[in-house]
Amino acid sequence: MHHMTHAAITGVGAYLPEHVLTNDDLAGMVDTTDEWIVTRTGIRERRIVAEGQSTSDLAVEAGRAALADAGMEPHDIDLLVVGTGSPDHIMPSTAALTQDRLGLTCGAVDIMAACTSFIAALHHATCVIEAGRARKVLVIGADALTRHIDFNDRRTCVLFGDGAGAVVLEASDEPGVMGIDLGSDGSGADVLIVPAGGAAAPCTPERVANGEHRLRMSGGEVFKFAVRMIPETTRRALEASGLSADDLTWLVPHQANQRILDAVPARLGIAPERVFSNVAMLGNTSAASIPLALHDMYTGDHLQPGDVLALVGFGAGLTWGAAVVRWTKGPNE
Ligand code: UT7
Repeated sequence: MHHMTHAAITGVGAYLPEHVLTNDDLAGMVDTTDEWIVTRTGIRERRIVAEGQSTSDLAVEAGRAALADAGMEPHDIDLLVVGTGSPDHIMPSTAALTQDRLGLTCGAVDIMAACTSFIAALHHATCVIEAGRARKVLVIGADALTRHIDFNDRRTCVLFGDGAGAVVLEASDEPGVMGIDLGSDGSGADVLIVPAGGAAAPCTPERVANGEHRLRMSGGEVFKFAVRMIPETTRRALEASGLSADDLTWLVPHQANQRILDAVPARLGIAPERVFSNVAMLGNTSAASIPLALHDMYTGDHLQPGDVLALVGFGAGLTWGAAVVRWTKGPNE
């Protein structure tokens, strides 16, 4: 009988830049208050990359930590997948830079799906393992989105932070990663966009003067989309896993806004305590938020073998995705 190969998480790592930016710091920069930010977003502080530090620097540290947690050497890894919305450069890929500095001897590829990048990267890695083309894949979600933020725009600058999280995904007899749902609707491109800096609108002095190289967002549109889509994509991934919302131990959503997280349990029919949140301390770290949440849960001893997690991403594109994961790893030592 043909034996199906599955993919399972066997290592978890994280890295956060040292510099903490508090709400009070922001109140000294734009017309905002700690009270507004906490009430409307739940965010209290976020980490910001240092001068000279970039996405690959965060990715390297998170990747190294995940390898150590899995007890692996760089040459053990068959493929590196980096999910990011803020690559170091248009080219080369952030994955290539990360591969070199981690001493990996394998292929390396970026996956770009904005805040959905980690789920898309996990999907890619899972398919490669299930197809038998790799046995050990390092999956990193890393972003330094604050590099694209206008720190004079109070509507966006209070929301984002930087960081990286990583998992080692390994071939296994048991899942591991179960059903995945991945979606995209590019008709919503304008809702969340960095207009200039790509091939459609290369940076010119005029565009830069106009701030077109900075992130622009219709916050209300993204909010409504997220509240509608998180339950929908989670249900589809659960269905693909032969499970229902009742089976969930944890919902691990992309950490964008506490009010979005608060709106989800009733719509999904789960208890509010099932929804993991660390947005207060990190803000929206884009592709990093889900693996950073996993790392917090793992190091905080919130994960037991057999737990069923739904990891859920959403963001620019518009894009969304959910992966149901049965936790198979022992306790953090
Ligand atoms: O990774 C996915 C990316 N993004 C998201 O998931 C974001 C989703 N959206 C959101 O989280 C929320 O829409 C925001 C937090 C961005 C905004 O919250 P809101 O409750 O939708 O506020 P609003 O945009 O309706 O703005 C309400 C008021 C406005 O003033 P007026 O027009 O009513 O006078 C804003 O100008 O709040 C004002 N405002 C602020 N005031 C103080 C907006 N930002 C700020 C601020 N401080 N930082």
